[in-house]
Amino acid sequence: MTRKKVGVLISGRGSNMQALCEAAKDAAYPAEIVLVASNRSDAGGLEIARGYGAETFALDHRPFGKDREAHEREMDAALRAHGVEIVALAGYMRVLSPWLVAQWQGRMINIHPSLLPLFPGLDTHKRALEAGVKLHGCTVHLVSDGVDEGPILGQAAVPVLAGDDEAALAARVLKVEHRLYPACLAALASGKHWVETDAAASLISV
Ligand code: GRF
Repeated sequence: MTRKKVGVLISGRGSNMQALCEAAKDAAYPAEIVLVASNRSDAGGLEIARGYGAETFALDHRPFGKDREAHEREMDAALRAHGVEIVALAGYMRVLSPWLVAQWQGRMINIHPSLLPLFPGLDTHKRALEAGVKLHGCTVHLVSDGVDEGPILGQAAVPVLAGDDEAALAARVLKVEHRLYPACLAALASGKHWVETDAAASLISV
């Protein structure tokens, strides 16, 4: 079996990236993590990635000022230099330019902590609590030009419980993120059209 080469982009602690690295330890998993790249050299996840033997690359976006694409071109070059075939965004806190999105059309995925199309953007758990929803969760989707839009590959739902605060709800969602993301990446990497996990069963619409 040839495993698809995956590059993961992170900005912070990298727990979803870690879940992907864990899954990829299994030789039967259809993807391998060949590069973990970040726009922040102090992203905690970079150290974790090195612990898994993954190559890492960090390039601060700040010196590029408003030239978002110039930064992306260097990130893109690093991905290509490592032979990356699929890009997984995992807490990558940058809005992407249409240029980068076009480079990876159909081959770039993101995990978002809500049941999209509900609550795109930031502060999803706070907004879910304020809205009074009884179910919340996470979504893995293909990246398109709109922020947190694009075809949904899989979703996992959790209950919102009485007494939940933002932290409690975020922790419950994060647990299922760590199951959903490896399942969706595996499905995309192996060309399957269904994602089956104990938390989700969703049609992949690629
Ligand atoms: C996760 O909640 C993910 O859904 C969102 O950003 C957070 C990243 O967390 N896109 P981590 O860095 O993977 O721990």
